[in-house]
Amino acid sequence: MSSASPDAPILFFDSGLGGLTVLGPTRALLPTAPIVYAADYAGLPYGQKSEAELASRVPALLGRLVERYQPRLAVIACNTASTIALPHIRAALDLPIVGTVPAIKPAAALSKSGVIGVLGTEATVRQPYVEDLSRRFAADQCVLRHGSPELVTAAETKLHGGIVDQAVVARAVAGLREQPQGAAMDVLVLACTHFPLLEAELQRELGDSVTMIDGAEGISRRVAHLTEGSVWPDRAPPGIAVFTRSAGRPPPPLATLAPYGIGSIETI
Ligand code: DGL
Repeated sequence: MSSASPDAPILFFDSGLGGLTVLGPTRALLPTAPIVYAADYAGLPYGQKSEAELASRVPALLGRLVERYQPRLAVIACNTASTIALPHIRAALDLPIVGTVPAIKPAAALSKSGVIGVLGTEATVRQPYVEDLSRRFAADQCVLRHGSPELVTAAETKLHGGIVDQAVVARAVAGLREQPQGAAMDVLVLACTHFPLLEAELQRELGDSVTMIDGAEGISRRVAHLTEGSVWPDRAPPGIAVFTRSAGRPPPPLATLAPYGIGSIETI
């Protein structure tokens, strides 16, 4: 890793703006790292796509991005793409890949009631991978799952300056609470990178008795570890955000992305 040019960026990839919740803590650890943030707006929402579609779409798109930006490492800042397509991505690309997986292990360690909620996209919560994590790390606990495509839309709306409909958030929380044992849930895994963008709205519905947890801090530490010994620029160059072209969904204003170190927006 130390041999990469100081200009070689870290590539963050998501279907939309959710990956910013992973970019944020990574920049805090590696403040001068060059950044490319890629969002597949033409493919959003991933949570409503089939496994086969994502397994071919994501590696192909990442291949184009790697060719164009020559990153030193790629972060798949999307639970849906990671839980479905990570082996395909790793097989297709010749660079270190860091994926995002639901934080079931730390949630299980934190829960006192033994009831954990996993809130993700519909595609993520149906993955055997999630079942496997539950078996390995929360075998004696109750792991409830719920998929909410509406929350992804709400998070995008919020970052585009729109108003979040709190009823949407309430419905997502009810989808867990109304399951058997749901009333005892004391830890909620945010298993979609979009959902921490709605942290305040979710906490309002959950109340103080439920702690939310996501994987972003762990991912940022993993990136810092994998790039240990790397040479970085003295100052952070302006980051690039790149969006796949979508007729109905323009990129957000630059002002939304600037706090994450983004200085320009491109489309492909
Ligand atoms: N941000 C993505 C995730 O972490 C998915 C959102 C979507 O495209 O449905 O799963």
